Amino acid sequence: MTSVERTLAIIKPDAVEHRLVGSIVRRIEAEGFRIAAMRLVRLTRGEAAAFYDVHRDKPFFDSLTSFMSSGPAVVLALEASDAIVRWRRVMGATNPGEAERGTLRHEFGTSIEHNATHGSDAPETAAAELAFFFRGVEFAR
Ligand code: CMP
Repeated sequence: MTSVERTLAIIKPDAVEHRLVGSIVRRIEAEGFRIAAMRLVRLTRGEAAAFYDVHRDKPFFDSLTSFMSSGPAVVLALEASDAIVRWRRVMGATNPGEAERGTLRHEFGTSIEHNATHGSDAPETAAAELAFFFRGVEFAR
């Protein structure tokens, strides 16, 4: 059984800086996702910390929140059947060095931190992460 899902995708500051927004959005559309919402954001350090709160105790937390607030990022709500798993497959492994050829992180990531994109990892996190960036009225049909 497949079901239509929404997931949160982020085109991270490294990819925006490298002018990869168009390439990544093109790939999102080519993979069959419907873009339900999309916005350019510049996170504050505090907002990045709130978004990545589950990683608060990790050694890379300060570096991660500093990077995620270092420049603009693009946040998107992607819709498709099994969107969560499918988007994670298109991104590839967290560490670009371990990501399969053809995945976004293999193609565009340069380190485990500067890994070009983010995606929600489960239905509960997708709901929370989508609500972090978008109000219900922002999802277009
Ligand atoms: P993301 O999918 O956005 O979720 C959390 C992020 O933390 C992850 O991508 C990586 O960019 C980053 N991350 C995970 N593990 C490490 C690590 N060992 N060192 C630095 N950053 C990490």
